[in-house]
Amino acid sequence: MKKLMGLILVTILVMSTFTGCGSKQNDVEPSTGDNTSNETQTKNKDNESTSKPKIGVTIYKYDDNFMTYTRNAMTAAAEGNAELIMNDSQNNQSVQNDQVDVMINKGVQALVINLVDPGAATTIADKAKAAGIPVIFVNKEYPDGTDKIDYESTWYVGTQSKESGDIQGKLVAAAWEEHPEWDRNGDGVMQYVMLMGEPGHPDAEARTKYSIEYIENEGIKTEELEKQTGMWDATKGKELMTTWLGKEGDKIEMVLCNNDGMALGVVEALKADGYFTDDKFMPVVGVDAIPEALDLIEEGIMVGTVLNDPLNQGKSAIQMAINVATEKDVLEGIDSELDETKAVRVPYQPITKDNIKLAKRAYGME
Ligand code: GAL
Ligand code: CA
Repeated sequence: MKKLMGLILVTILVMSTFTGCGSKQNDVEPSTGDNTSNETQTKNKDNESTSKPKIGVTIYKYDDNFMTYTRNAMTAAAEGNAELIMNDSQNNQSVQNDQVDVMINKGVQALVINLVDPGAATTIADKAKAAGIPVIFVNKEYPDGTDKIDYESTWYVGTQSKESGDIQGKLVAAAWEEHPEWDRNGDGVMQYVMLMGEPGHPDAEARTKYSIEYIENEGIKTEELEKQTGMWDATKGKELMTTWLGKEGDKIEMVLCNNDGMALGVVEALKADGYFTDDKFMPVVGVDAIPEALDLIEEGIMVGTVLNDPLNQGKSAIQMAINVATEKDVLEGIDSELDETKAVRVPYQPITKDNIKLAKRAYGME
């Protein structure tokens, strides 16, 4: 019965793609995570799924803004080229491990894994190795480097984490120099708060460290008032910012967020505290360039963000999986090299009001 419902759903989805409704990248909301069946199958539109490679995908959790865009890019890239089995790992590594076992039993020819816990890369690789199935890790990188995983048929698609910290730092430093009035207490020091992504995630660690390092290297003195993890999440971001506003008040001069999701929550907390009306302003920066953040940049509320390109990451991961599943060179059709850790790196870009179109294109908004 579930299968039948699934098929009907897929048919409706495919039909709406043809009629042009409901399939645009920016139409798709992150899942609320409340559906009980966490696996979806994407058949090829011509229904000749048997001739197409079967690829098993896990996403660390569907309820993540940026990964929703990446996931949709994967589905689009697979259309007509592969049969995808897609799983919501619900932010639980043991759920993900079980999903991998199930997909191996179903005979997938390659795995695309967005880990829950970056350290679990070796556990997944061991399973894949035993079954002789290649693995493409995406977005969450094994902290020691993918080349250190004891399985030859393993690659990574993502970004160079440090780059996002550097770019965010550069953006903040330039804006700070342009706005001497942001140094509210006039002490020549930037009093900031930092909202971090999940602990142990290479992107979160690097963004936290290198953004501030860059600002300091530009000769700007900084003072950290608060730093905590908001787990990439808007609701948690709002809670943290509300607490800090209560505690630190207008001592806060700058808000750095490891991602835009948390920045959206921060802006809500600030609005509730009277910011962004009249002359009350607080500089907020993020990373990802999700459409909601781009709107805030256009409105002059957020200062800037860093483009994390979901289309290229999603598309490359699926292309590489199809390549290795069909015994082609892993990089066939990919306009990139592997670095020394067996990773394809998609570059980050700084985004402000001036070049917002670049980000809109990367998110399929225009
Ligand atoms: C980051 C992204 C975050 C979140 C995280 C999940 O690259 O900037 O918003 O999606 O990946 O692993
Ligand atoms: Ca100051």
